[in-house]
Amino acid sequence: MSEKPIVQAINLRKTYNPGTDKAVEVLHGVDMQAFAGEFVALVGQSGSGKSTLLNILGALDTPTSGQVLIDGVDIARLSSDGLASLRGTKIGFVFQFHHLLDEFSCLENALIPVSIRKGAPDKDDLAYAKRLLIRVGLESQLSKRPSQMSGGQQQRNAIVRALCNKPKLVLADEPTGNLDSHSGQEVFTLMREIAKETGVAFLMVTHDDRLAAAADRILRIEDGIMTEVPAPSSRDRS
Ligand SMILES: Nc1ncnc2c1ncn2[C@@H]1O[C@H](COP(=O)(O)OP(=O)(O)OP(=O)(O)O)[C@@H](O)[C@H]1O
Ligand SMILES: [Mg+2]
Repeated sequence: MSEKPIVQAINLRKTYNPGTDKAVEVLHGVDMQAFAGEFVALVGQSGSGKSTLLNILGALDTPTSGQVLIDGVDIARLSSDGLASLRGTKIGFVFQFHHLLDEFSCLENALIPVSIRKGAPDKDDLAYAKRLLIRVGLESQLSKRPSQMSGGQQQRNAIVRALCNKPKLVLADEPTGNLDSHSGQEVFTLMREIAKETGVAFLMVTHDDRLAAAADRILRIEDGIMTEVPAPSSRDRS
């Protein structure tokens, strides 16, 4: 592929509590990349460093060494304003727990990142958020509060919230982890389709092998090292 990756990690290392007797190196030199429109699953045992990696890629945490490039920009070179703007405009986040705010409606929740970025959404933002909410099947829920929606609906609401600023990268940490397998599959399928439709690069942590198998690529972290699981065609043959 000749195009530039949306996200690239180069020899990332992460040590928690460095220089103390509690120092633990979680990432031992991780390299990875993801391109526009790609849906990538990130798997690995509990404690293997998946959330650590996602937090570093999303500029929520810093590596001990190594580089993260988002859309070609080395994020270590950005000021704190630059980082805030990067997180607001180029990256969307989805977590295991939806973190929707119950004092706001489904539509208002979807637009929170837009409000944070520019004060108030304009009519194009509103139209885009509504279009995405309709796309994920929430057309009848626009004025509902999160507590009035099902777990799957809440998570679809959170996915739209991650997309409403038209990011280039979405980082999702076990977005289906709290859902039953049917809702999890539905939410997963929507995320994968939306990655294709919007051209966003989507990196999703999952413990569900069945979902991971349906991603474009699977990255596995084991003992702090990243390996790429062979493509589905060769997985089928083996
Ligand atoms: N803030 C922290 N301080 C010290 N150690 C930490 C911290 N955060 C995570 N760790 C340790 O780093 C390792 C990786 O944690 P991480 O949360 O990245 O794993 P994970 O792969 O996301 O696990 P899970 O699948 O359970 O969510 C674990 O051993 C964890 O105990
Ligand atoms: Mg985790």
